[in-house]
Amino acid sequence: MFDVLTAAGVLAGLGAFLALLLVLAEKTLKSGGPTRLTVNDDQPRLVDGGDPLLGALKEQGIFIPSACGGRGSCGMCKVVVRSGGGPVLPTETPHLKPEELEQGVRLSCQLKVRNDMTIRIPPELLEVEEYTTKVAAIEEATYDIRRLRLEFPKGTQFSFRAGQYIQLEAPIYDGLAEPAYRAYSVSSSPHTPGTLEVLIRKVPRGICTTFVHELLVAGDTVKINGPYGEFTLRETPAEAVFIAGGSGMAPFESILADMAQRGIAKKVTYFFGAVSMRDIYDLERMAEFEETLPEFRFVPALSRPAKGDQWHGETGLITDVVARHYGSMADMEAYLCGSPGMIDACIKVLLDKGMEEGNIYYDKFT
Ligand SMILES: Cc1cc2nc3c(=O)[nH]c(=O)nc-3n(C[C@H](O)[C@H](O)[C@H](O)COP(=O)(O)OP(=O)(O)OC[C@H]3O[C@@H](n4cnc5c(N)ncnc54)[C@H](O)[C@@H]3O)c2cc1C
Ligand code: FES
Repeated sequence: MFDVLTAAGVLAGLGAFLALLLVLAEKTLKSGGPTRLTVNDDQPRLVDGGDPLLGALKEQGIFIPSACGGRGSCGMCKVVVRSGGGPVLPTETPHLKPEELEQGVRLSCQLKVRNDMTIRIPPELLEVEEYTTKVAAIEEATYDIRRLRLEFPKGTQFSFRAGQYIQLEAPIYDGLAEPAYRAYSVSSSPHTPGTLEVLIRKVPRGICTTFVHELLVAGDTVKINGPYGEFTLRETPAEAVFIAGGSGMAPFESILADMAQRGIAKKVTYFFGAVSMRDIYDLERMAEFEETLPEFRFVPALSRPAKGDQWHGETGLITDVVARHYGSMADMEAYLCGSPGMIDACIKVLLDKGMEEGNIYYDKFT
Protein backbone atom coordinates (compact mmCIF):
# COMPACT_ATOMS: atom_id res chain seq x y z
CA MET A 1 0.00 0.00 0.00
CA PHE A 2 2.82 2.32 1.04
CA ASP A 3 4.65 1.54 -2.26
CA VAL A 4 1.58 2.36 -4.31
CA LEU A 5 1.18 5.72 -2.51
CA THR A 6 4.88 6.51 -2.93
CA ALA A 7 4.75 5.70 -6.64
CA ALA A 8 1.65 7.86 -7.09
CA GLY A 9 3.34 10.72 -5.23
CA VAL A 10 6.50 10.41 -7.33
CA LEU A 11 4.44 10.40 -10.54
CA ALA A 12 2.44 13.45 -9.45
CA GLY A 13 5.66 15.27 -8.51
CA LEU A 14 7.22 14.36 -11.85
CA GLY A 15 4.13 15.61 -13.68
CA ALA A 16 4.21 18.91 -11.81
CA PHE A 17 7.92 19.25 -12.49
CA LEU A 18 7.42 18.61 -16.25
CA ALA A 19 4.55 21.11 -16.35
CA LEU A 20 6.80 23.70 -14.68
CA LEU A 21 9.55 22.96 -17.22
CA LEU A 22 7.04 23.45 -20.06
CA VAL A 23 5.87 26.80 -18.67
CA LEU A 24 9.49 27.94 -18.25
CA ALA A 25 10.39 26.78 -21.77
CA GLU A 26 7.36 28.58 -23.21
CA LYS A 27 8.31 31.75 -21.28
CA THR A 28 11.93 31.57 -22.35
CA LEU A 29 11.00 30.93 -25.99
CA LYS A 30 8.47 33.77 -26.01
CA SER A 31 10.34 36.38 -24.06
CA GLY A 32 13.83 35.55 -25.31
CA GLY A 33 14.84 38.34 -22.93
CA PRO A 34 15.37 41.95 -23.90
CA THR A 35 16.40 42.31 -27.52
CA ARG A 36 17.88 45.29 -29.36
CA LEU A 37 15.84 46.68 -32.23
CA THR A 38 17.44 49.34 -34.44
CA VAL A 39 15.12 51.36 -36.69
CA ASN A 40 16.54 53.50 -39.52
CA ASP A 41 20.01 53.76 -37.93
CA ASP A 42 18.50 55.34 -34.79
CA GLN A 43 19.71 54.41 -31.30
CA PRO A 44 18.86 50.72 -30.63
CA ARG A 45 15.69 50.26 -28.57
CA LEU A 46 15.26 47.48 -25.99
CA VAL A 47 12.15 45.39 -26.75
CA ASP A 48 10.71 42.12 -25.38
CA GLY A 49 12.04 39.22 -27.45
CA GLY A 50 9.39 36.84 -28.78
CA ASP A 51 6.77 39.42 -29.78
CA PRO A 52 5.78 39.96 -33.42
CA LEU A 53 7.80 42.86 -34.83
CA LEU A 54 4.58 44.80 -35.58
CA GLY A 55 3.58 44.73 -31.88
CA ALA A 56 7.12 45.43 -30.65
CA LEU A 57 7.22 48.54 -32.86
CA LYS A 58 3.80 49.66 -31.62
CA GLU A 59 5.04 49.36 -28.03
CA GLN A 60 7.77 51.81 -29.06
CA GLY A 61 5.19 54.23 -30.50
CA ILE A 62 6.02 53.28 -34.09
CA PHE A 63 2.89 52.46 -36.12
CA ILE A 64 3.12 50.33 -39.28
CA PRO A 65 0.03 50.02 -41.54
CA SER A 66 -1.77 46.78 -40.65
CA ALA A 67 -5.15 46.68 -42.36
CA CYS A 68 -5.90 43.05 -41.43
CA GLY A 69 -4.89 43.50 -37.81
CA GLY A 70 -1.87 41.18 -38.05
CA ARG A 71 -3.59 38.16 -39.63
CA GLY A 72 -1.07 38.02 -42.48
CA SER A 73 -3.71 38.65 -45.14
CA CYS A 74 -3.41 42.32 -46.18
CA GLY A 75 0.33 42.44 -46.91
CA MET A 76 0.50 46.07 -45.79
CA CYS A 77 2.85 45.76 -42.81
CA LYS A 78 6.04 45.43 -44.84
CA VAL A 79 9.40 46.58 -43.47
CA VAL A 80 12.95 45.99 -44.69
CA VAL A 81 14.92 43.76 -42.32
CA ARG A 82 18.66 44.34 -42.61
CA SER A 83 19.73 41.78 -40.02
CA GLY A 84 18.35 39.41 -37.40
CA GLY A 85 15.13 38.41 -39.17
CA GLY A 86 15.83 34.71 -39.70
CA PRO A 87 14.30 32.76 -42.58
CA VAL A 88 11.22 34.03 -44.44
CA LEU A 89 8.07 32.26 -43.18
CA PRO A 90 5.55 30.43 -45.39
CA THR A 91 2.87 32.91 -44.22
CA GLU A 92 4.91 35.78 -45.69
CA THR A 93 5.85 34.46 -49.11
CA PRO A 94 2.44 34.92 -50.83
CA HIS A 95 2.75 38.68 -50.22
CA LEU A 96 6.40 39.17 -51.24
CA LYS A 97 7.58 39.69 -54.82
CA PRO A 98 10.98 38.19 -55.80
CA GLU A 99 12.62 41.67 -55.77
CA GLU A 100 11.20 42.35 -52.30
CA LEU A 101 12.60 39.05 -51.02
CA GLU A 102 15.98 40.10 -52.39
CA GLN A 103 15.76 43.47 -50.60
CA GLY A 104 14.93 41.80 -47.26
CA VAL A 105 11.29 42.95 -47.17
CA ARG A 106 9.28 41.09 -44.49
CA LEU A 107 5.78 41.13 -43.02
CA SER A 108 6.21 42.68 -39.59
CA CYS A 109 3.07 40.99 -38.20
CA GLN A 110 4.42 37.51 -38.95
CA LEU A 111 8.07 37.96 -38.03
CA LYS A 112 8.94 37.57 -34.33
CA VAL A 113 11.76 39.50 -32.68
CA ARG A 114 13.97 36.69 -31.45
CA ASN A 115 17.44 38.21 -31.98
CA ASP A 116 18.87 41.71 -32.16
CA MET A 117 17.37 43.16 -35.31
CA THR A 118 18.04 46.09 -37.64
CA ILE A 119 15.19 47.33 -39.84
CA ARG A 120 14.32 50.19 -42.22
CA ILE A 121 10.91 51.80 -42.51
CA PRO A 122 9.75 54.77 -44.60
CA PRO A 123 10.73 57.88 -42.55
CA GLU A 124 7.15 59.28 -42.75
CA LEU A 125 5.95 56.35 -40.61
CA LEU A 126 7.99 57.83 -37.75
CA GLU A 127 5.61 60.83 -37.91
CA VAL A 128 2.52 58.64 -37.38
CA GLU A 129 1.00 59.11 -33.94
CA GLU A 130 -1.83 57.64 -31.87
CA TYR A 131 -4.67 59.92 -30.77
CA THR A 132 -7.59 59.44 -28.41
CA THR A 133 -10.53 61.08 -30.16
CA LYS A 134 -14.10 61.72 -29.06
CA VAL A 135 -17.00 60.50 -31.17
CA ALA A 136 -18.73 63.84 -31.75
CA ALA A 137 -21.46 62.46 -34.04
CA ILE A 138 -22.68 59.27 -35.69
CA GLU A 139 -24.87 59.46 -38.78
CA GLU A 140 -26.45 56.60 -40.73
CA ALA A 141 -25.36 57.43 -44.29
CA THR A 142 -27.19 54.31 -45.55
CA TYR A 143 -28.66 51.22 -43.89
CA ASP A 144 -25.13 49.72 -43.62
CA ILE A 145 -22.75 52.71 -43.73
CA ARG A 146 -22.09 54.92 -40.71
CA ARG A 147 -20.38 58.29 -40.81
CA LEU A 148 -18.37 59.00 -37.66
CA ARG A 149 -17.19 62.49 -36.79
CA LEU A 150 -14.18 62.28 -34.51
CA GLU A 151 -12.89 65.19 -32.48
CA PHE A 152 -9.25 65.53 -31.46
CA PRO A 153 -8.34 66.78 -28.00
CA LYS A 154 -7.96 70.58 -27.91
CA GLY A 155 -4.61 71.78 -29.24
CA THR A 156 -3.86 68.54 -31.15
CA GLN A 157 -2.40 68.98 -34.60
CA PHE A 158 -3.40 66.21 -37.00
CA SER A 159 -2.57 66.86 -40.63
CA PHE A 160 -3.13 64.52 -43.52
CA ARG A 161 -3.35 64.66 -47.30
CA ALA A 162 -6.75 64.19 -48.96
CA GLY A 163 -7.09 60.49 -49.87
CA GLN A 164 -5.08 59.15 -46.92
CA TYR A 165 -6.41 56.79 -44.27
CA ILE A 166 -6.21 56.26 -40.51
CA GLN A 167 -6.36 53.08 -38.42
CA LEU A 168 -9.14 52.85 -35.86
CA GLU A 169 -8.93 50.64 -32.78
CA ALA A 170 -11.73 48.29 -31.77
CA PRO A 171 -11.04 47.77 -28.06
CA ILE A 172 -11.43 44.37 -26.37
CA TYR A 173 -15.12 43.36 -26.34
CA ASP A 174 -17.12 40.09 -26.34
CA GLY A 175 -14.16 37.74 -25.95
CA LEU A 176 -11.84 39.59 -28.34
CA ALA A 177 -8.36 38.67 -27.03
CA GLU A 178 -6.72 41.97 -27.91
CA PRO A 179 -7.62 45.29 -29.52
CA ALA A 180 -7.95 45.16 -33.32
CA TYR A 181 -6.92 47.90 -35.75
CA ARG A 182 -8.55 48.47 -39.14
CA ALA A 183 -7.91 51.01 -41.91
CA TYR A 184 -10.50 53.70 -42.76
CA SER A 185 -10.07 56.43 -45.37
CA VAL A 186 -10.69 59.93 -44.10
CA SER A 187 -13.77 61.32 -45.84
CA SER A 188 -13.56 64.90 -44.56
CA SER A 189 -11.53 67.83 -45.82
CA PRO A 190 -7.90 68.14 -44.74
CA HIS A 191 -8.72 71.82 -44.06
CA THR A 192 -10.90 71.21 -40.98
CA PRO A 193 -8.41 71.02 -38.10
CA GLY A 194 -9.63 69.40 -34.92
CA THR A 195 -12.03 66.88 -36.48
CA LEU A 196 -12.14 64.18 -39.09
CA GLU A 197 -14.83 61.97 -40.59
CA VAL A 198 -14.83 58.37 -41.75
CA LEU A 199 -17.46 56.24 -43.52
CA ILE A 200 -17.62 52.68 -42.19
CA ARG A 201 -19.59 49.93 -43.87
CA LYS A 202 -20.84 47.04 -41.74
CA VAL A 203 -19.22 43.71 -42.55
CA PRO A 204 -21.12 40.64 -41.26
CA ARG A 205 -19.24 39.23 -38.25
CA GLY A 206 -16.46 41.78 -38.78
CA ILE A 207 -14.56 42.64 -35.60
CA CYS A 208 -14.16 46.38 -36.03
CA THR A 209 -17.35 47.13 -37.94
CA THR A 210 -19.48 45.23 -35.40
CA PHE A 211 -17.89 47.40 -32.71
CA VAL A 212 -18.58 50.58 -34.69
CA HIS A 213 -22.14 49.67 -35.74
CA GLU A 214 -23.36 47.95 -32.58
CA LEU A 215 -21.40 49.25 -29.61
CA LEU A 216 -20.02 52.71 -30.36
CA VAL A 217 -22.17 55.68 -29.37
CA ALA A 218 -21.73 59.44 -29.61
CA GLY A 219 -19.67 60.74 -26.70
CA ASP A 220 -17.43 57.63 -26.52
CA THR A 221 -13.71 57.90 -27.05
CA VAL A 222 -11.93 55.92 -29.73
CA LYS A 223 -8.23 55.53 -30.51
CA ILE A 224 -6.91 56.16 -33.98
CA ASN A 225 -3.45 56.36 -35.50
CA GLY A 226 -2.26 57.76 -38.78
CA PRO A 227 -2.10 59.20 -41.34
CA TYR A 228 -1.10 56.57 -43.90
CA GLY A 229 -1.24 55.98 -47.63
CA GLU A 230 -0.39 57.35 -51.04
CA PHE A 231 -3.88 57.39 -52.58
CA THR A 232 -3.78 61.11 -53.33
CA LEU A 233 -4.71 63.16 -56.39
CA ARG A 234 -1.89 63.71 -58.89
CA GLU A 235 -2.05 67.37 -59.86
CA THR A 236 -1.40 66.79 -63.58
CA PRO A 237 -3.35 68.28 -66.51
CA ALA A 238 -4.69 64.79 -67.39
CA GLU A 239 -8.45 64.17 -67.29
CA ALA A 240 -9.38 61.73 -64.51
CA VAL A 241 -12.08 59.23 -63.63
CA PHE A 242 -12.89 58.36 -60.04
CA ILE A 243 -14.67 55.03 -59.52
CA ALA A 244 -16.08 53.83 -56.19
CA GLY A 245 -18.77 51.74 -54.55
CA GLY A 246 -20.10 51.65 -50.98
CA SER A 247 -17.80 53.26 -48.42
CA GLY A 248 -15.21 53.64 -51.20
CA MET A 249 -16.87 57.07 -51.44
CA ALA A 250 -14.75 58.20 -48.46
CA PRO A 251 -11.40 59.27 -49.94
CA PHE A 252 -13.14 60.96 -52.89
CA GLU A 253 -15.22 63.18 -50.60
CA SER A 254 -11.96 64.31 -49.00
CA ILE A 255 -10.20 64.79 -52.35
CA LEU A 256 -13.14 66.77 -53.80
CA ALA A 257 -13.33 68.98 -50.69
CA ASP A 258 -9.61 69.65 -51.03
CA MET A 259 -9.99 70.43 -54.76
CA ALA A 260 -12.80 72.86 -53.99
CA GLN A 261 -10.84 74.53 -51.19
CA ARG A 262 -7.67 74.92 -53.28
CA GLY A 263 -9.44 75.67 -56.57
CA ILE A 264 -7.93 72.71 -58.45
CA ALA A 265 -9.53 72.78 -61.89
CA LYS A 266 -8.86 69.20 -63.02
CA LYS A 267 -11.46 67.56 -65.25
CA VAL A 268 -12.94 64.70 -63.21
CA THR A 269 -15.89 62.36 -63.76
CA TYR A 270 -16.84 60.35 -60.70
CA PHE A 271 -18.67 57.03 -61.30
CA PHE A 272 -20.34 55.67 -58.18
CA GLY A 273 -21.73 52.13 -58.34
CA ALA A 274 -24.62 51.04 -56.12
CA VAL A 275 -27.04 48.13 -56.22
CA SER A 276 -30.27 50.02 -55.56
CA MET A 277 -31.49 53.35 -54.17
CA ARG A 278 -30.84 52.28 -50.59
CA ASP A 279 -27.08 52.18 -51.34
CA ILE A 280 -26.98 55.72 -52.73
CA TYR A 281 -25.98 58.57 -50.42
CA ASP A 282 -24.50 62.06 -50.32
CA LEU A 283 -26.16 63.11 -53.60
CA GLU A 284 -26.49 66.65 -52.23
CA ARG A 285 -22.79 66.85 -51.40
CA MET A 286 -21.97 65.72 -54.92
CA ALA A 287 -24.34 68.33 -56.39
CA GLU A 288 -22.52 70.98 -54.33
CA PHE A 289 -19.16 69.83 -55.70
CA GLU A 290 -20.62 70.04 -59.24
CA GLU A 291 -21.51 73.68 -58.45
CA THR A 292 -18.09 74.64 -57.07
CA LEU A 293 -15.93 72.58 -59.42
CA PRO A 294 -16.96 73.45 -62.99
CA GLU A 295 -14.99 70.52 -64.49
CA PHE A 296 -16.52 67.93 -62.12
CA ARG A 297 -19.36 65.52 -62.93
CA PHE A 298 -20.94 62.88 -60.72
CA VAL A 299 -22.41 59.77 -62.38
CA PRO A 300 -24.16 57.41 -59.95
CA ALA A 301 -25.39 54.10 -61.37
CA LEU A 302 -27.65 51.35 -60.04
CA SER A 303 -26.86 47.77 -61.00
CA ARG A 304 -30.20 46.31 -59.80
CA PRO A 305 -32.82 48.98 -58.97
CA ALA A 306 -35.35 47.68 -56.45
CA LYS A 307 -39.10 47.57 -57.16
CA GLY A 308 -40.40 51.06 -56.52
CA ASP A 309 -37.00 52.82 -56.91
CA GLN A 310 -37.64 56.13 -58.69
CA TRP A 311 -34.42 56.18 -60.74
CA HIS A 312 -33.75 58.07 -63.93
CA GLY A 313 -29.94 57.79 -63.92
CA GLU A 314 -27.50 55.25 -65.31
CA THR A 315 -28.09 51.53 -64.78
CA GLY A 316 -25.79 48.52 -65.07
CA LEU A 317 -22.50 47.39 -63.56
CA ILE A 318 -20.19 50.33 -62.95
CA THR A 319 -17.57 48.80 -65.26
CA ASP A 320 -20.12 48.77 -68.14
CA VAL A 321 -21.21 52.33 -67.35
CA VAL A 322 -17.58 53.56 -67.51
CA ALA A 323 -16.95 51.59 -70.71
CA ARG A 324 -20.05 53.17 -72.33
CA HIS A 325 -18.83 56.69 -71.54
CA TYR A 326 -15.45 56.57 -73.25
CA GLY A 327 -13.70 55.61 -76.46
CA SER A 328 -9.95 55.64 -75.88
CA MET A 329 -8.81 56.47 -72.34
CA ALA A 330 -5.15 56.51 -73.35
CA ASP A 331 -4.33 59.96 -71.95
CA MET A 332 -6.42 59.70 -68.81
CA GLU A 333 -5.84 58.82 -65.15
CA ALA A 334 -8.05 56.68 -62.90
CA TYR A 335 -8.56 56.58 -59.14
CA LEU A 336 -10.40 53.54 -57.80
CA CYS A 337 -11.62 52.75 -54.32
CA GLY A 338 -13.71 49.87 -52.95
CA SER A 339 -13.70 46.09 -52.85
CA PRO A 340 -10.81 44.17 -54.46
CA GLY A 341 -13.27 42.52 -56.90
CA MET A 342 -14.63 45.85 -58.13
CA ILE A 343 -11.14 47.33 -58.48
CA ASP A 344 -9.77 44.36 -60.43
CA ALA A 345 -12.76 44.45 -62.80
CA CYS A 346 -12.30 48.21 -63.34
CA ILE A 347 -8.57 47.90 -64.00
CA LYS A 348 -9.32 45.37 -66.74
CA VAL A 349 -11.76 47.76 -68.45
CA LEU A 350 -9.38 50.73 -68.15
CA LEU A 351 -6.46 48.77 -69.64
CA ASP A 352 -8.72 47.56 -72.48
CA LYS A 353 -9.54 51.22 -73.13
CA GLY A 354 -5.83 51.99 -73.53
CA MET A 355 -5.11 53.58 -70.15
CA GLU A 356 -1.52 53.15 -68.99
CA GLU A 357 -1.16 50.90 -65.94
CA GLY A 358 1.00 53.52 -64.24
CA ASN A 359 -1.87 56.02 -64.42
CA ILE A 360 -4.26 53.81 -62.45
CA TYR A 361 -4.22 54.46 -58.69
CA TYR A 362 -6.28 52.54 -56.16
CA ASP A 363 -6.96 51.70 -52.51
CA LYS A 364 -8.36 48.18 -52.16
CA PHE A 365 -10.52 47.73 -49.06
CA THR A 366 -9.08 44.31 -48.17
C1 LIG B 1 -6.34 51.29 -47.16
C2 LIG B 1 -7.69 50.83 -46.70
C3 LIG B 1 -8.70 51.75 -46.48
C4 LIG B 1 -9.96 51.33 -46.06
N1 LIG B 1 -10.93 52.25 -45.90
C5 LIG B 1 -12.18 51.85 -45.56
C6 LIG B 1 -13.25 52.82 -45.44
O1 LIG B 1 -13.07 54.04 -45.62
N2 LIG B 1 -14.48 52.36 -45.10
C7 LIG B 1 -14.73 51.01 -44.88
O2 LIG B 1 -15.88 50.66 -44.59
N3 LIG B 1 -13.73 50.08 -44.99
C8 LIG B 1 -12.48 50.48 -45.30
N4 LIG B 1 -11.47 49.55 -45.39
C9 LIG B 1 -11.74 48.15 -44.95
C10 LIG B 1 -11.52 48.04 -43.42
O3 LIG B 1 -10.17 48.30 -43.11
C11 LIG B 1 -11.87 46.67 -42.83
O4 LIG B 1 -11.20 45.67 -43.55
C12 LIG B 1 -13.36 46.38 -42.84
O5 LIG B 1 -14.06 47.41 -42.17
C13 LIG B 1 -13.66 45.04 -42.13
O6 LIG B 1 -13.17 45.09 -40.82
P1 LIG B 1 -13.77 44.19 -39.66
O7 LIG B 1 -12.80 44.22 -38.51
O8 LIG B 1 -15.16 44.58 -39.36
O9 LIG B 1 -13.81 42.79 -40.32
P2 LIG B 1 -12.81 41.56 -40.03
O10 LIG B 1 -12.98 41.07 -38.64
O11 LIG B 1 -11.46 41.96 -40.46
O12 LIG B 1 -13.42 40.49 -40.99
C14 LIG B 1 -13.53 40.69 -42.39
C15 LIG B 1 -14.22 39.47 -42.98
O13 LIG B 1 -13.46 38.32 -42.73
C16 LIG B 1 -14.25 37.40 -42.03
N5 LIG B 1 -13.37 36.80 -41.00
C17 LIG B 1 -12.89 37.40 -39.90
N6 LIG B 1 -12.11 36.55 -39.21
C18 LIG B 1 -12.13 35.38 -39.89
C19 LIG B 1 -11.55 34.11 -39.70
N7 LIG B 1 -10.76 33.87 -38.65
N8 LIG B 1 -11.77 33.14 -40.62
C20 LIG B 1 -12.55 33.41 -41.70
N9 LIG B 1 -13.14 34.58 -41.94
C21 LIG B 1 -12.93 35.54 -41.05
C22 LIG B 1 -15.40 38.14 -41.38
O14 LIG B 1 -16.53 37.35 -41.20
C23 LIG B 1 -15.62 39.22 -42.38
O15 LIG B 1 -16.46 38.76 -43.40
C24 LIG B 1 -10.21 49.95 -45.82
C25 LIG B 1 -9.18 49.01 -46.02
C26 LIG B 1 -7.95 49.44 -46.47
C27 LIG B 1 -6.88 48.43 -46.68
S1 FES C 1 -0.94 43.35 -40.84
FE1 FES C 1 -1.92 42.50 -42.56
S2 FES C 1 -0.38 41.22 -43.36
FE2 FES C 1 0.55 42.05 -41.64
